[in-house]
Amino acid sequence: MKKGRILTGDRPTGQLHLGNYVGTLANRAKLQDEYELILLVADYHSLTRKVDKEHVLETRQAVREVVLDNLAAGVDPDKTTYYVQSDVPSVCELHLLFSMLTTVPRLERVPSLKEIMDAEHIEQPSYGLLGYPVLQAADILHVRANLVPVGKDQASHIEVTREIARRFNYLYGDVFPEPEALIGDVPTLMGTDGSGKMSKSRGNAILLADDPETIRQKVMNMYTDPTRIRADIPGNPEGNPVFQYNDAFNPNRAEVEELKERYRQGKVGDVEVKKKLNAALQAFLEPIRERRNYYAARPQLVDEILAAGAAKVRPMSAETIHMAREAMGLGRGLVR
Ligand code: TRP
Repeated sequence: MKKGRILTGDRPTGQLHLGNYVGTLANRAKLQDEYELILLVADYHSLTRKVDKEHVLETRQAVREVVLDNLAAGVDPDKTTYYVQSDVPSVCELHLLFSMLTTVPRLERVPSLKEIMDAEHIEQPSYGLLGYPVLQAADILHVRANLVPVGKDQASHIEVTREIARRFNYLYGDVFPEPEALIGDVPTLMGTDGSGKMSKSRGNAILLADDPETIRQKVMNMYTDPTRIRADIPGNPEGNPVFQYNDAFNPNRAEVEELKERYRQGKVGDVEVKKKLNAALQAFLEPIRERRNYYAARPQLVDEILAAGAAKVRPMSAETIHMAREAMGLGRGLVR
């Protein structure tokens, strides 16, 4: 018996990296055994920022990449339901109904709105961008999920979801669960340049799809303690991505501790530390990349996974919307 239903999702932005793996993908692969897991790829959400045709087509490609990366990370299609948001358009009806249950000023206060507008140089948010969290609420609630694992940046959206569920239930009767956010507590992975978090756009990411030679080059070019210009100068493993990655991906704890000790004493060169990290990362990423390649070579199989997922979610969504309409008393029949 499963402990509950999880809905989580990704906006398709292209290939995922080790930071995404540590932050979300690994956790999904774990949760899918205990919970019923539904994974959505939020292509409608991609339209909230850019609407040109080229972007829409890029998004379509990015959907495939995100699915491949999740499959690669061990989010197993036999356990987890994968679907593309626009394959289940009934979510839009719920989005419409929900859009009446929150206010414009409430949505203007959602911190991610301003962040997105700054990052994307958007001066005036579209109606759709303002409603981003309302659509997310509909994603979560049309399958009546009770748990939503997300990054810290999404916590405010889950708050909006809960408010909408409460308001609906208060007005019309109990239809929706009030879902809980499950915010990961793993430390954010630094970029290979040591300057904050790993991000594809900053060019400091190791992608799950990178080939062995690319990984090796990225590791050998990694930032280390800048005060250490020679191997015999004591170095600091703290705040040093080479050691953060060794901690995260090198299963040989004794080797890592020994390297740190020698690093602090100035008895090991950066090259040796990086070579060991490279070996550990290659071993870690190889099965992930192989799984990715397996699915990448079988686009039809990926299609089938997404079609089966949508076929499973559609009736769930339809049932929820039916319940919502019934509870509201919406429709054409005479009122008795
Ligand atoms: N908003 C999420 C993001 O930007 C993606 C997303 C869309 C999502 N719908 C969701 C996440 C529902 C969790 C649940 O990453």
